[in-house]
Amino acid sequence: EKGGWSSFMAKEISEEPEAVAKTLLGRLVDHKVRLPELDSLGEGTLENIDRIVIVACGTAAYAGMLGKYAIEKWSRIPVDVELAHEFRYRDPILTERTLVVSISQSGETMDTLLAVRHALEQGAKTLSICNTQGATIPRDSHAVLYTHAGPEVAVASTKAFVAQITALYLLGLRIGEARGTLSAEQIAENAAELLAIPEKIDEVLVASQSIGQLAHWMTDTQSVLFLGRNVGFPVALEGALKLKELAYIHAEGFAAGELKHGPIALIEPGQVVFVIVPSPRDPNSLHPKVVSNIQEIRARGARVIAIAEKGDAAVLPFADEVIPIPLAGSLFEPLLAVVPLHIFGMELAAAKGLDVDQPRNLAKSVTVE
Ligand code: BG6
Repeated sequence: EKGGWSSFMAKEISEEPEAVAKTLLGRLVDHKVRLPELDSLGEGTLENIDRIVIVACGTAAYAGMLGKYAIEKWSRIPVDVELAHEFRYRDPILTERTLVVSISQSGETMDTLLAVRHALEQGAKTLSICNTQGATIPRDSHAVLYTHAGPEVAVASTKAFVAQITALYLLGLRIGEARGTLSAEQIAENAAELLAIPEKIDEVLVASQSIGQLAHWMTDTQSVLFLGRNVGFPVALEGALKLKELAYIHAEGFAAGELKHGPIALIEPGQVVFVIVPSPRDPNSLHPKVVSNIQEIRARGARVIAIAEKGDAAVLPFADEVIPIPLAGSLFEPLLAVVPLHIFGMELAAAKGLDVDQPRNLAKSVTVE
């Protein structure tokens, strides 16, 4: 039931804090990661795998890209992320030391299911990250790590996306723990970051209340670009996907570093560009690089909407609009930065009079190839 909400999507976005909290529940205890559901992968699997391949479609694949950053950083195992339908048909290299992690809200997406079955045939270990108890993909996999976002009704995924990132981060911490690549202190630090996310998303929901107005003056907009770097890149892709799905607007996400290699040619006066700005405290020092990207596009007349850390003064002179997000460790910023983009897609669709829960031509779970 929608309750008092205007759409299921509005309700589901408001449940993003809870989706993260419930996915964490009982899994971070005494600074340790407790995921007994991974036991069915077989003893020693987490220690012995030499590669991880994440397979998924749509939004779930962008969650997978974020999983790659976290898992590689924490466990030092190479991680590839592939669209399930591409993976399946190119005879991928798989061994018994490969862990194939599928991500699917519904657990029924045919492209993802076929990728998992192919991995099983090749002798790989399979882990399903899924939001639907007893669905086909988790039943066919060696192990399942459920996300607990609750039922998601709106076709375009929102709360399941943040829950998938949360599950992938738990997996990364668990593998880092098993392989000894993370110290107890590092696990505790990252666990504390995760546990603080629900409250921070609540703050973002409050800070995002002005997005409705932003959407209102954009109902005639033909094209929107999204720029992000490092973990901001999958966030940019997710922001663009939501606009396509919900508001039927041409939208593209780019890695900010790629700007000068092509996309900057698209910038003309009035072009709206969302920029996901890393924290000025970012250990990779990417902040000044993204700020200089903003200056470049602004000089060419772009309308810049920046999603930036609260108090980031460097962005203010160059952005038409700043949506502030609370302070968090770099890897955790996507869980906050994506929320205003979900709201923006929904608000723009609503302002255009479209059905945000049931966009044209799309289905919640695609059970055909
Ligand atoms: C698409 C949905 O058809 O399937 C997307 O419209 C979703 O929102 C994608 O991300 C994957 O679905 P699932 O259930 O496998 O996560």
